[in-house]
Parts: sequence; C-alpha cells; structure tokens
Amino acid sequence: MAHGHKSNEKVVYVGDTRVKKGKGVQIPPDYTAFPGKSEAFIPNFLLKEWMVGCVVLVGFLVWVIAEPAPLGYPADPTNAAFIPMPDWYFLFLYQFLKYPYVSQQYILLGTIGIPSIMFGGLLLAPFLDTGKERRFYRRPIASSLMILSLVACVYLTVVSWDHYQHMLEKNGQTPEHHVREEKAKEAHEKGEERPNPLKKKPVAAIIEPEDPIMSTIQSQCMSCHANDLSGAMGPALLGVGNRMTKEEIVTTVTEGRGGGAMPAYGGDLSTEEIDQIATWLSKQTQ
Ligand code: HEC
Repeated sequence: MAHGHKSNEKVVYVGDTRVKKGKGVQIPPDYTAFPGKSEAFIPNFLLKEWMVGCVVLVGFLVWVIAEPAPLGYPADPTNAAFIPMPDWYFLFLYQFLKYPYVSQQYILLGTIGIPSIMFGGLLLAPFLDTGKERRFYRRPIASSLMILSLVACVYLTVVSWDHYQHMLEKNGQTPEHHVREEKAKEAHEKGEERPNPLKKKPVAAIIEPEDPIMSTIQSQCMSCHANDLSGAMGPALLGVGNRMTKEEIVTTVTEGRGGGAMPAYGGDLSTEEIDQIATWLSKQTQ
C-alpha cells in the first residue's frame, strides 16, 4: 500500500481485520499466506531476478561467441566524404544538437544543460510524482510529459535518419555497413567465410621452399626481405614472379637497385648462383 497521500480509492486490507493496525513496528505477514500478494524483495525476488539475468547473460555470451559483431573498416582519416553517424538509439540526441539554440555558442546548454534536466527529472520523478494512482489517464502531468518526450524522440530520430538518407543520395554514397553487408552476402553465396577485417590475410606460401638455392637466399637476402619473403627493409618478394621476368631479377640482383639500398651481388655471387636465385624467385607467383 502506498501511503501519505489523499486518495478516493477504496483501501482493501489483506489479513485479519480484527487485529487493529498498531502504531509500532509493522512486521509484514509471511507472504506464503497470500499467494501473489507480496514477496520479500531481498532475497526472494532478487534471487529470481538474478537467475533470469544469468540465463540471459549466458545466452548473450553464446551468441556473441558464435557470431562476432561485424566490425567496421579501419578508420580512414583521409576520407572526407565519410558521414559519421551514431547508433540508432542516439539519433534523437544527435539531431537535437543540430538546432540553433543548443549548438555553437549554446553547445553547453545542448550537451550538459538540457540532458541534465531530462535525466535529473527522471531521477527525481519518484519524489516529485508520489501519487499512488497507477492509471496513466489519472496522472495527466506525468503522462503528458512522458508522451511528449516519446513523441519528441521518435520525431527527432526520424528527421535525423531522413536527413542522413538525403545526404547519402546527394553524395551518391553507399554507407559502409551496406558495403559490408553486400560483401558478407557475396561471401555467403560463394560458400566462403564472412569477411572479417580483424583477421589478417594468410601470408602466401613460398613455392618450392626445399630448393637447394634457398640456403644462399637465406644467408644473403632474408635479412632485408624477411624469412617468409613478406618484406622488411626491402620489399616483399612474394609474388615477385608476377611483376618481374627472370632477366629483370638477374639484372636487379647483379647490379643492385635504389642507389645501393638493394646491394649489387655481381661480385659476391657467381653468375650461376644469381641465375638459380632468379629462376627460383620467378617461380614465386602468388
Ligand atoms: C641490404 C638489404 C637488402 C639485401 C641484403 C637484399 N635486398 Fe633485395 N632489395 C632491397 C631493397 C631496399 C629493394 C628495393 C630497391 C628499390 O627499388 O629501391 C630491393 C629490391 C629487390 C628486388 C626487386 C623487388 C621488386 O619488387 O621490385 C629483388 C628481386 C630483390 N631485391 C632480390 C634480392 C635478392 C635475391 C637478394 C639476395 C641475394 C636481396 N635482394 C638482398 C634490399 C635488400
């Protein structure tokens, strides 16, 4: 029972009416005597809530492990056409901040002032609105405030989304998450795994790693071109066979390149060795 305020509602007491309501400490009756009437919040009710909470949490965990959230592409600071947008549940705030009296020199009002009034109001609501009436049409102030805020939120969200769609149309852009969705769909249709920007591309395998010339390459070249030929100080040599002919490789290795950045091996290695190296490198066509 709520208390302290006038009400014309009929008060129904549960319990023994012959027992006068004392002024002292009221010991609540055991709720099992009145099924569905009341229940101790701590621990009974709370335990039940926690159990449900645990089931939901485990469900969520299983879900996100099975299907990781699709991440965006890495940020590209040079992309001036990118339109930053918050998630849908913040669109109303985003749109709100576009209005003149809450932006520019009034930005503090928009970002701190009005949101604090709104959220402060929500915090204070239980103290300001102490009537025990539950039916919303009997609580005109609280109800109309709530409906007004709901309508405002829906309106601002819709306007914001509409504006975004117009901007995209005007710039002829496809939003990144659509591109991502398309790629995921394509991959799915081809029976491939959904593209994941977090996963690095597997490094292409070296072709014929058992070739005897490998020992020379290992000792002479890999300090700059890396053990897996993926490049360090020097460029990657994986797939070098696609870019250069064997003759070009011979010339590069014999004479060096880049003003000595790539050393000349004409003196250190025999023509035959360089020929073997170039033959092997021109096979690297991945
Ligand atoms: C001191 C470091 C260093 C060593 C050792 C080295 N390279 Fe290079 N290599 C480079 C650099 C730097 C370049 C890029 C030169 C440029 O174009 O400016 C390069 C370029 C190349 C290229 C051309 C690649 C391309 O895609 O254009 C080939 C082929 C090559 N190196 C093969 C070799 C071979 C074979 C060896 C061993 C015999 C070797 N390099 C040893 C630094 C090195």
